[in-house]
Amino acid sequence: MALETDPPRPLNGLRWMVFQLVERCNLRCSMCYEWGSEGTYHGLGELATLDYDVFERVARECLAERPYFEFFGGEPLLHPRIEDAIRLIREGGSTLAIPTNGVLIEEQAEMLVSARPTGLWISLDGPEDVNDAQRGRGVFRRVTRGLDRLIELRNRQDQTLPRVGVTFVVTPSNHTRIEEMFLDQLDLSRLDDVSIEFQNFATPEEVDAYAEVVRERFGVESTPCARGYAQDPAQFADMDVEAIADQITRIKERCRSLGVRFFSNPRTVDATNYRRYFDARWAEMADARSRCAFPWIYAEVSARGDVTTCHSFYDHAVGNVHEQSLGEIWRGPRMAALRQHLRKELFSICTACCRYYNNSISSVEDGGSRS
Ligand SMILES: C[S@@+](CC[C@H](N)C(=O)[O-])C[C@H]1O[C@@H](n2cnc3c(N)ncnc32)[C@H](O)[C@@H]1O
Ligand code: SF4
Ligand code: SF4
Repeated sequence: MALETDPPRPLNGLRWMVFQLVERCNLRCSMCYEWGSEGTYHGLGELATLDYDVFERVARECLAERPYFEFFGGEPLLHPRIEDAIRLIREGGSTLAIPTNGVLIEEQAEMLVSARPTGLWISLDGPEDVNDAQRGRGVFRRVTRGLDRLIELRNRQDQTLPRVGVTFVVTPSNHTRIEEMFLDQLDLSRLDDVSIEFQNFATPEEVDAYAEVVRERFGVESTPCARGYAQDPAQFADMDVEAIADQITRIKERCRSLGVRFFSNPRTVDATNYRRYFDARWAEMADARSRCAFPWIYAEVSARGDVTTCHSFYDHAVGNVHEQSLGEIWRGPRMAALRQHLRKELFSICTACCRYYNNSISSVEDGGSRS
């Protein structure tokens, strides 16, 4: 219990902290809002890497609150001081998950088993031919070799960490092959976690509406990150939602029988719900919501030092850690204005945000969330 004499906690409430370590990526996955065919990172100019000293200062500031930490990218394993960054968080007593495209796991397996992040989320988007069409030639084999090596090393040392999870992003080109990857091409029993997530997108009109609101209310002049999510829902019209729901139901059941943790975005496994998702009829979805708790529990620092409460939407920064401490930003007027806005209504692009579908504090507390 807090005593009256206890000093105020500058980051009171912070439960989930994300650092985008690098903007750079070694892949060009077609559906990616950053580096995909329509992703907006192509226009960034010189790419940023989060300065290690700045990372260390902010991470130490956060550690007192023991939030759940995540790294993000680009490809986070490309950060030149990735090992030091992992050790700092883990030796500080917090959990840390890292999403990764898995390309560097084979060469970093020893480091990862020794530095021991709590979990790795490795992206694979289908059986070899489909995955490689979406994520790049040769990627499936390279990633599965890395996965084998990591699990072997970890098990040989009789360790349970890092947990190994696989994330699958469902798109028009892989949606009939989800089950084949999880049940035929991977040995599910060796995985700790599985997550199946739908391609996030917003309609061009929703992106325009967001740009207008943040310009008028918060003075944000350009919104390239949000633009990276813009897609015409017509491209999803032919997707077989019944087949998706059937496959996910069977994979979920197999995970349950093997003791593998299972996550899905959106959560409600149902063909009608899925059709509404891909038609952008968000308000009719079983997972629809009208509020978001993240701006009260969550912060993300981009590789440029910008702070936001909304995952990957760095357009609307509420401060920059090169200029202020995270605590000053957390209690500052721009954060307060954003929270005030979100107390009343969500943004039009919120349905393109994976946090919208994962708005559960319990999933944070057991380290079981997904980036
Ligand atoms: C942006 S990546 C960053 C980490 C790393 N480069 C990777 O691929 O895992 C984080 C996750 O977002 C997923 N992703 C990329 N584009 C997406 C989209 N349009 N909708 C949903 N997830 C997407 C990736 O497959 C990956 O699992
Ligand atoms: S590896 Fe990750 S960041 Fe890079 S293009 Fe693919 S999804 Fe995007
Ligand atoms: S759902 Fe909306 S308010 Fe919540 S974190 Fe995502 S973009 Fe931000």
